Amino acid sequence: MKYLVTGGAGFVGSHLIEQLLAEENEIVCLDDFSTGKRTNIAKFADRISIVEGDIRNPQLVRNAVKGVESVFHLAAQISVNRSTKEPLFDASVNIEGAINLFEAVRQSSAKKIVYVSTGGAIYGEPDVLPASEDTIEDPISPYGISKLVAEKYLKWFYDVYGLSYSIIRPANIYGPRQDPLGEAGVISIFLGRIKDNNPVEIFGDGRDSRDYVYVKDISNICIKAMNSNKKDIYNAGTGKQTNLLELVEIIERVTKSHVKKEFSSPRPGDVKHIYLDASKAREELNWVPSTDLELGISNTWKWYEETH
Ligand SMILES: NC(=O)c1ccc[n+]([C@@H]2O[C@H](COP(=O)([O-])OP(=O)(O)OC[C@H]3O[C@@H](n4cnc5c(N)ncnc54)[C@H](O)[C@@H]3O)[C@@H](O)[C@H]2O)c1
Repeated sequence: MKYLVTGGAGFVGSHLIEQLLAEENEIVCLDDFSTGKRTNIAKFADRISIVEGDIRNPQLVRNAVKGVESVFHLAAQISVNRSTKEPLFDASVNIEGAINLFEAVRQSSAKKIVYVSTGGAIYGEPDVLPASEDTIEDPISPYGISKLVAEKYLKWFYDVYGLSYSIIRPANIYGPRQDPLGEAGVISIFLGRIKDNNPVEIFGDGRDSRDYVYVKDISNICIKAMNSNKKDIYNAGTGKQTNLLELVEIIERVTKSHVKKEFSSPRPGDVKHIYLDASKAREELNWVPSTDLELGISNTWKWYEETH
């Protein structure tokens, strides 16, 4: 099969491409390299087509979609913090960019879109946890809002044009290639600080909790969703919550170091607690996250030590 992967030079996109190549697929990668990196795709760059440019550019996206059978949409502005400071920019990439892609796809012969949304930022602060797909979406950041709006557009393209889709709502993804200097991905950021012997910065009292899911489990669910006949929304998390103080303890064990902590005020837009019920993905897609947090952090640390 020939797939377009938008955001393919990014952290998650590059793992997805790697798995799709291992399964003998042909890949077009569309990316503007704003946060994505050539090093992420260096290992297999000669085996894929790269379209460099902006997801908001209609002509470029129409060309990228030509001849592909289906599309994985991952290109996005992913920083919650940046979205609170530049909501218009966030909406432009995450909403306008998504609509531009959906338009190009529905005018092409491509059959289906798998859209990587967010489970960490779409539900806000639900009364009942873990959040299931039936939990009312109530995002508290422009990033959560823009990812949700793109979901609604995708459903509209299905209702009106019959464009098939699946939506994946991942929890907090971590793993090799996540940028330690980026604004998202606390595990990578902490590992980067530890490697340089710097203290880690904790926003709030350290009791905020998240559901950390390994990147290869996410590329796996994206492919399972693509191969499924079901057209639906799937949470992708472990169903386990880990707070920042517990996370630091695991990181101390893995890196065999003592981590210095600095506490700052909580940031606007950050939820306090979120973890996801992914039983629907288990039942309908036969997907279960298979990487335990300590093992995943250990793989990430190994990658970090080898590459930095
Ligand atoms: N990392 C997480 O914890 C997490 C959690 C839930 C959902 N997601 C979603 O997963 C997807 C991938 O995120 P990631 O963590 O790999 O981030 P990333 O920043 O590494 O990947 C995003 C990619 O999109 C590209 N991109 C950004 N703006 C673009 C534009 N205007 N035109 C073309 N390309 C553009 C970037 O260069 C980058 O390669 C995103 O849609 C994100 O919302 C991520």
